[in-house]
Amino acid sequence: MRRRMIAGNWKMNGDLAALGELDAIGVAARAAPQIDVAICPPFTLISPAVARADGVMIGAQDCHAQESGPFTGNISAAMLVEAGAVLTIVGHSERRRDQMERNRGVRAKAERAIAHGMSAIICLGENEEEHDAGQTTSVVERRLEASLPIARGEFIMIAYEPLWAIGTGRTPATAAVAEIHALIRRRLRDLLDPAEAERVRILYGGSVNGTNAADLMAIPDVDGVLVGGASLSAEQFLPIIAAAA
Ligand code: PGA
Repeated sequence: MRRRMIAGNWKMNGDLAALGELDAIGVAARAAPQIDVAICPPFTLISPAVARADGVMIGAQDCHAQESGPFTGNISAAMLVEAGAVLTIVGHSERRRDQMERNRGVRAKAERAIAHGMSAIICLGENEEEHDAGQTTSVVERRLEASLPIARGEFIMIAYEPLWAIGTGRTPATAAVAEIHALIRRRLRDLLDPAEAERVRILYGGSVNGTNAADLMAIPDVDGVLVGGASLSAEQFLPIIAAAA
């Protein structure tokens, strides 16, 4: 009942020429209408990406929590919607680390995005120290509770991204992913209306590639993946779409 979501996060990569990758990604996405395929390029590429993408949802990598105002260098949800974005990532670990983003602010961003009709991919996960100290479940639970917006479930996606798995080629064991995704689903049922909780998609992120994607998506409660490096080229992204389809 939940559609799979294959979302690519280009981070601070890409240019107009790179939008050519969207042509082949679009072909694959249109051939798999039962799943959602999204690319989140840098802000400046959203508008040309929307013009080029056929069958691929275009999203942003962040949005500001306020409607508008004196926030130099930031971008609002309304601006993203005007550019054609239909979803946005919020609370990515790189922003939590580099821009000192905290759970409460992440929730406010998600709420603003959803108020403008976008979906929000809310990222959370444990760092390596927390992982080694056996604190994964408590950390995930705390970040989920504090950054979850109260909204309709279909507009919410939670991306479980262990920080030590991002860009490292390492992924957690299948059982560990299963445990955390089940925990997130259980907590969603407590935190939201239970019917809405069933509509929330829970994505896994961190070193997803064409080789491990099928195994990851076979895990119960893994409703899709958030992909960094392997989303930058159609050659690497297409096998992930194929694994989902
Ligand atoms: P990666 O990044 O796929 O390059 O590990 C994942 C992410 O940061 O979302």
